[in-house]
Amino acid sequence: MPPEQVLLQMAVGKWVCQALKVAAELGVADLLAGGPRSVDEIAHGTGSNPDALYRLLRALAALGVFTERGDRSFENNALSTALRSDVPRSVRAMVRWLGEEAAWHAWADFAHSVRTGEPAFDHFHDEQLFDYFAKNPLSAEIFNAGMTSFSASTGPAVARAYDFSGIGKLVDVGGGHGGLMLAIAERFPAIDCVLFDRPEVIAGAGPVLSTSRHAERIETRGGDFLEGVPEGADAYIMKHIIHDWDDERCVRILGHCAAAAAKEGRVLVVDQVVTERPESAFSKIMDLEMLAMTPGGRERTELEFRELFEQAGLVLTRVVATDSLVSIVEGRKALH
Ligand SMILES: C[S@@+](CC[C@H](N)C(=O)[O-])C[C@H]1O[C@@H](n2cnc3c(N)ncnc32)[C@H](O)[C@@H]1O
Repeated sequence: MPPEQVLLQMAVGKWVCQALKVAAELGVADLLAGGPRSVDEIAHGTGSNPDALYRLLRALAALGVFTERGDRSFENNALSTALRSDVPRSVRAMVRWLGEEAAWHAWADFAHSVRTGEPAFDHFHDEQLFDYFAKNPLSAEIFNAGMTSFSASTGPAVARAYDFSGIGKLVDVGGGHGGLMLAIAERFPAIDCVLFDRPEVIAGAGPVLSTSRHAERIETRGGDFLEGVPEGADAYIMKHIIHDWDDERCVRILGHCAAAAAKEGRVLVVDQVVTERPESAFSKIMDLEMLAMTPGGRERTELEFRELFEQAGLVLTRVVATDSLVSIVEGRKALH
């Protein structure tokens, strides 16, 4: 394909993002779970305009999402099945979050981030992401569901990759609705687990926790990790937390964990680790989301993690890869 066409294909990503988001929001893939349906039936089931819906689904089918049959009917295929809400590793919730209105507005202002280094989200909405969620429960619900669905694949990958068996008590710092905690609790039945997040997020964790028989082993605690974390655990894990914050606040969060940890306590940061080499990597694209959306967050290299750890009184002991995008960056309290 000529270079100009490759670029244009990249640039129309915004059309594709919204087309997927609307199909996810309408629950089209769920409606097709029982087999093919005519566009009129799907329109009726989703409260949509039949002609506009036909154009949406025809375009998505042209991209390989849904299969168009000859008679203005559609059926699920491998890609669209991943948009169903009831399949393992469903991406429906994450797709909804990626096209969500508040996030979309922030991205429209992305040039501000590149000019200033400041989050476009804060510039557009006049407050940082997590404070916005506290006041906009619908956005928060979409975000939290997106995080939970992402954890459905990364959580088990972390539990498979790291040996948690020596840990008596583990705190998931900023653990959202508990997807990671449940994956670890499932595989390591002896660990006492504490799920820690903002109070309004913890208040919404019930439906996710109640899906597991291990829920009763998980203590939930509301609080602010910039102020402190629950005391006395053997290890503190945080997934997709450090990449949300600037260095100064990362050092604060990690420092609170180091101070609260039991003797020889561990701190486990679960994030993507950016390669130093000039090669293709998803982490480098995801880093732009951090630049646009979060309070100073970024994806970091191993060296950058090492420096953060040092400032927080921790020693980076190893980086454990998982069979997902994330790695586990392990730190231990520095001996003085
Ligand atoms: C990107 S999400 C990651 C959630 C979860 N760890 C996961 O991987 O699915 C960031 C989490 O940090 C939480 N958070 C943000 N600021 C916080 C604060 N000051 N204290 C506690 N939790 C906070 C958010 O509520 C959210 O659940």
